Amino acid sequence: MISIEADLVRHVVEAATLAPSVHNTQPWRFVTRAAGFDLYADPARQLAVLDPAGRQLHLSCGAALAHARVAARAMGADAAVELLPTDDPTLLARVELSIGQPADDSEVVLAQALLTRHTGRGVYDDEPVEPALLDALQAVVDQEGAMLRYVRGAEMVELEVLLSEADAREQRDPDYRRELASWVRDTGDDGVPSDALADLSGRGSSLRLRDFSLSSPEQGSGQAPVAEHPDVAVLTTVGDSPQAWLHAGQAGGLLLLHAAVHGVQGQPLGQVTDTEGPRRRLSAVLGLVGVPQLVLRLGYARGHAATSRRALGDVLT
Ligand SMILES: Cc1cc2nc3c(=O)[nH]c(=O)nc-3n(C[C@H](O)[C@H](O)[C@H](O)COP(=O)(O)O)c2cc1C
Repeated sequence: MISIEADLVRHVVEAATLAPSVHNTQPWRFVTRAAGFDLYADPARQLAVLDPAGRQLHLSCGAALAHARVAARAMGADAAVELLPTDDPTLLARVELSIGQPADDSEVVLAQALLTRHTGRGVYDDEPVEPALLDALQAVVDQEGAMLRYVRGAEMVELEVLLSEADAREQRDPDYRRELASWVRDTGDDGVPSDALADLSGRGSSLRLRDFSLSSPEQGSGQAPVAEHPDVAVLTTVGDSPQAWLHAGQAGGLLLLHAAVHGVQGQPLGQVTDTEGPRRRLSAVLGLVGVPQLVLRLGYARGHAATSRRALGDVLT
């Protein structure tokens, strides 16, 4: 029998660390096992102000699991994932790798997106995402036990209002501002670097993005704005438990990788789901089935900036 080599486990864990995480906190730890690894939350990296319940920490770790699964498949390995396998709430998942079918072309292409996907914070083109791709992304999310609902027509105005209100409330909170500022940094191997904060002058959209530079309101360039019509998707789950958050994180992680394969960038519009009030209102206004976990704008854009990751030795034991 062919055995799972330690190198494969390292490769898969390294891919997991490339996942998106809230404020690039990378709130994870990995412990290797004979033929796989355990994924732990790193509570020291949980955002006390933004994320007291750890929901966004679980979403981030779920995205890491999705990356691990994609990397494993590209190497011809299957990853069996057991979520929350013990009563230790920090042990989020146990992943057992086994030799499977050789990867097909689509699996290899998807794994290439592990390196090319980045959060797109810039100005998006005035070009809607291909309807066939939007359908395919919906199917990806569906397979993960979550749901994806696109925001359409007049609903967009409702979302814009909710997002602006949620953003303004957060901006007024000095603790929120202090915490956000502490994760914007140009040195080190975590956090959001200033060159990942695109110049948004001339962006013609009422969708309020999270202002990492805390320079509210978005600066105008004095020139006519470029109209932007990104698609906006709301990812929901049936429940609102750590288990549901891990499912949502995997679904969101896979969605962003599939989008990246087709040159589509994504950016969470986190302010509207950060706290319970706006989250509940979003549900009511859109008549959502399930609980909103992630709201994403999706579109085409030129350029992006990569963010750093901690060294493998710092997160893997
Ligand atoms: C749960 C979650 C929430 C996020 N919220 C936001 C957000 O509100 N605004 C934003 O620009 N990026 C958001 N991000 C993206 C992270 O900032 C980004 O993943 C991280 O900085 C790493 O960069 P990368 O995605 O380019 O690898 C979020 C990511 C996750 C997983």
